[in-house]
Amino acid sequence: MGNLLFPNQLKYLEGFRNEEDPLITEMEEYAKQHNVPILSWQAADFMEQLILIINPKRALEIGTAIAYSSIRIARNLKKKGVVHTIEKSEENTEAAKDFISRSGYESKINLMVGDALNLMPRLQKKYDFIFLDADKEDYKRLFDYALVLLKKGGVIFVDNLLWHGFAATKRVPPDYKVSTKHIREFNKIFLSQSNLKTMIIPIGDGIGLGIKA
Ligand SMILES: C[S@@+](CC[C@H](N)C(=O)[O-])C[C@H]1O[C@@H](n2cnc3c(N)ncnc32)[C@H](O)[C@@H]1O
Repeated sequence: MGNLLFPNQLKYLEGFRNEEDPLITEMEEYAKQHNVPILSWQAADFMEQLILIINPKRALEIGTAIAYSSIRIARNLKKKGVVHTIEKSEENTEAAKDFISRSGYESKINLMVGDALNLMPRLQKKYDFIFLDADKEDYKRLFDYALVLLKKGGVIFVDNLLWHGFAATKRVPPDYKVSTKHIREFNKIFLSQSNLKTMIIPIGDGIGLGIKA
């Protein structure tokens, strides 16, 4: 969702894109048609690179939507790797189930249906990689739960931290004022953690990356 590049830069980079799985491009089209926000393809490419570097045995995603990013994580996991993903919307869950079953990664993706604010405190085993991509007003509380669930040396990946560029500008459209406030407050917290090495990377809509000490 969102992109910080100039359109000509994005088009230039898009020219090099070589997505081999037609389901991924179908999902991007589905998301566009149904107004479902998903990771931009560039941020998803970056996340795939990280998954290959980190080689997580256990990954957690908060905010599945249609399972676009879940599948992109799953397809880079090694033999024993799994991704647990949480989604509260019934409509998105139905679409996610369908795409997961068609992806061939059913055995690697565990879809948990419900509000992450209720489900996360019940999770007991820790994770090597956590992807936070849910409602912006929930980010602070979900982040607190995520920090508990993240292993030492684990990586947290947070989408939308530049929020269409509005996080860094005074001219915010009325519809985005509240969400922008949430993102700005979250960024202050995220970037001042003492036990997490953090930065915001200007890919896609702004990716927060944190490594737990
Ligand atoms: C931006 S979309 C996720 C996109 C997905 N990660 C991807 O890139 O393909 C956010 C999703 O999080 C879900 N969501 C928001 N807050 C949530 C919560 N507290 N618990 C579970 N799901 C939540 C929304 O219903 C929505 O489907």
